[in-house]
Amino acid sequence: MGKLSTISMLCVLILAMLGGFSNARKVTKLHFYVQDIISGPNQTVWEVARAEITANSATTFGLVRVVDDLITATADPNSKALGRLQGQVTFADFEESAPLMNLNVVFKAGTYNGSVITMLGRNAVTDKREYAIVGGSGDFRLVKGHAITSTYSVDLATGHVVLEYTLYVVHGKSSTLSDM
Ligand SMILES: *[C@@H]1O[C@H](CO)[C@@H](O)[C@H](O)[C@H]1NC(C)=O
Ligand SMILES: *[C@@H]1O[C@H](CO)[C@@H](O)[C@H](O)[C@H]1NC(C)=O
Repeated sequence: MGKLSTISMLCVLILAMLGGFSNARKVTKLHFYVQDIISGPNQTVWEVARAEITANSATTFGLVRVVDDLITATADPNSKALGRLQGQVTFADFEESAPLMNLNVVFKAGTYNGSVITMLGRNAVTDKREYAIVGGSGDFRLVKGHAITSTYSVDLATGHVVLEYTLYVVHGKSSTLSDM
């Protein structure tokens, strides 16, 4: 094979690969609200452990909480129930209050009923927090992506906090997911 045809073969190969990559992935956007109840009769966030240092730590280092929050379609707690946000919040930073979040989005209704998205990240308690989507099950097998979350409202009298979540789910073009 001549030098020129080898080079043009390589070019074709590279173009084919680039084309393949750009067509191989699709992003689906999921948007929902989470009802986080921090006190009162229907509390959904519970402390499970503390370290010896926790009481004397400015960042409550070593504190572990477990959460099982209702996921709804809108900010209204009585809007369509979509599932639960379940997981663990671990205060793992000596310097800042920025817990490790380890969360499953468990769909219990709608298109994705029975499927789960797993997220992991650092909650720097800024205006917008970003977590990694590390995978999932059911419709979300092999997905990746990221989630942006912010605090929608806080009512300290009732202990009711509403969080807004937008998930950007990256998956293969052949899997059919729809925005919500
Ligand atoms: C707690 O949940 C029960 C059952 O869903 C409900 O009837 C009650 O109003 C709730 N209480 C508060 C304070 O939200
Ligand atoms: C979700 O799926 C479960 C298991 O198949 C089923 O029992 C339940 O009724 C479904 N929920 C809704 C709201 O469709």
